[in-house]
Amino acid sequence: MIIGVPKERREAEARVAATPDTVQRYVKEGHRVLVERGAGVGAAIPDAEFEAAGARLVDGGEALYGEAEVVLKVQRPVEEELAWLREGQLLVGMLDPHMHREQLEAYVARRVTAFALELLPRTTRAQAMDVLSSQANVAGYRAMLEAMTAYRRVVPMMMTAAGTIAAAKVFVVGAGVAGLQAIATARRMGAVVTATDVRPAAKQEIESLGARFVGFIPEDAATAGGYARPLTPEEQRKQREILADHIRGQDIVVTTAQVPGRRAPRIVTAEMVRGMRPGAVILDMAVETGGNVEGSRPGETVEVEGVTILGPRNLPSRVAPTASRLYARNLYNFLQLVVKRDAEAVSIDTADELVAATLLTRDGAVVHENFKS
Ligand SMILES: NC(=O)c1ccc[n+]([C@@H]2O[C@H](COP(=O)([O-])OP(=O)(O)OC[C@H]3O[C@@H](n4cnc5c(N)ncnc54)[C@H](O)[C@@H]3O)[C@@H](O)[C@H]2O)c1
Repeated sequence: MIIGVPKERREAEARVAATPDTVQRYVKEGHRVLVERGAGVGAAIPDAEFEAAGARLVDGGEALYGEAEVVLKVQRPVEEELAWLREGQLLVGMLDPHMHREQLEAYVARRVTAFALELLPRTTRAQAMDVLSSQANVAGYRAMLEAMTAYRRVVPMMMTAAGTIAAAKVFVVGAGVAGLQAIATARRMGAVVTATDVRPAAKQEIESLGARFVGFIPEDAATAGGYARPLTPEEQRKQREILADHIRGQDIVVTTAQVPGRRAPRIVTAEMVRGMRPGAVILDMAVETGGNVEGSRPGETVEVEGVTILGPRNLPSRVAPTASRLYARNLYNFLQLVVKRDAEAVSIDTADELVAATLLTRDGAVVHENFKS
């Protein structure tokens, strides 16, 4: 098969869907790999490294799409790329079909076989391909660093001849993949860390990282899939009552709470923000799905009475070399399901639950149950 890796064209996207390591693996398995010149620059991978790994460099996206049988992407294609897609081509990436259903029409019209990797189930078998986890992990790390940088005091306790500085108090809301990494990062920096979640398993995980749990666990708050359910108004009121008091004393708050397929829960209210000390920092990792923090804005920094609210977009791209390395391996592991060693054609086994869960379109039709209109 001919596998193509175009340069990512969306604004502020520095990641790339392959690395020299995965290129080498594909080549070893009998595939040819094309990499668009400059595709790895944002992830600190020079063209020469891709070439040394066995890839052929191609000038421009049109030429790459014109030749590749499999196109590996990080984000969904831009308009220009949609026009380059060809019949029968395999398109694999984080295609964001829930937010951008309209792109499915383009895949159908161009008779592309499109896979959206964020639809993979969170099962043990899918773990090595789980792009949501790999990217949330680096995002949680980066979020904590960004919040600590915006916080203009030092984080660890410092005992100096000029006096003792107390350790900063950090509170993490939501202890899924991103939140747990944020907690671990804050602990490494010497902060006094507390965290909350609504799933009982998360409480134990918070404590196993050496942080203290604050909040309450509503009954049956975890769904069978391991995600949180939305809280009832009464549960929300109770949560706010507990958190309002706690948040007042915090220096840094990082929020990561999400409920799949819904707007992110509003957890930190404007009143809680106003109750914090000047110089405190809040980073809302859920800003792009509606926000956990009242007043946060995507891609902006907002000041409220001396409290800084950060709403960074695309945190994984800010750790592009690491994020790309993990993402490229996720993609490689996923491709093992559909592109076999030395094969001339893809083999799509829809009886495989991982294939069925991610396959959006094929042979000019939407085939995914959730996206058939
Ligand atoms: N392959 C696997 O087995 C695998 C891989 C990754 C994740 N998981 C599991 O999937 C689950 C979800 O992980 P995720 O990081 O994608 O979660 P997520 O991004 O959907 O949500 C982030 C966190 O926010 C929490 N949350 C939601 N509403 C909240 C509220 N009102 N107040 C406080 N916290 C709230 C959630 O419980 C979750 O821990 C976890 O149980 C995780 O362990 C399993």
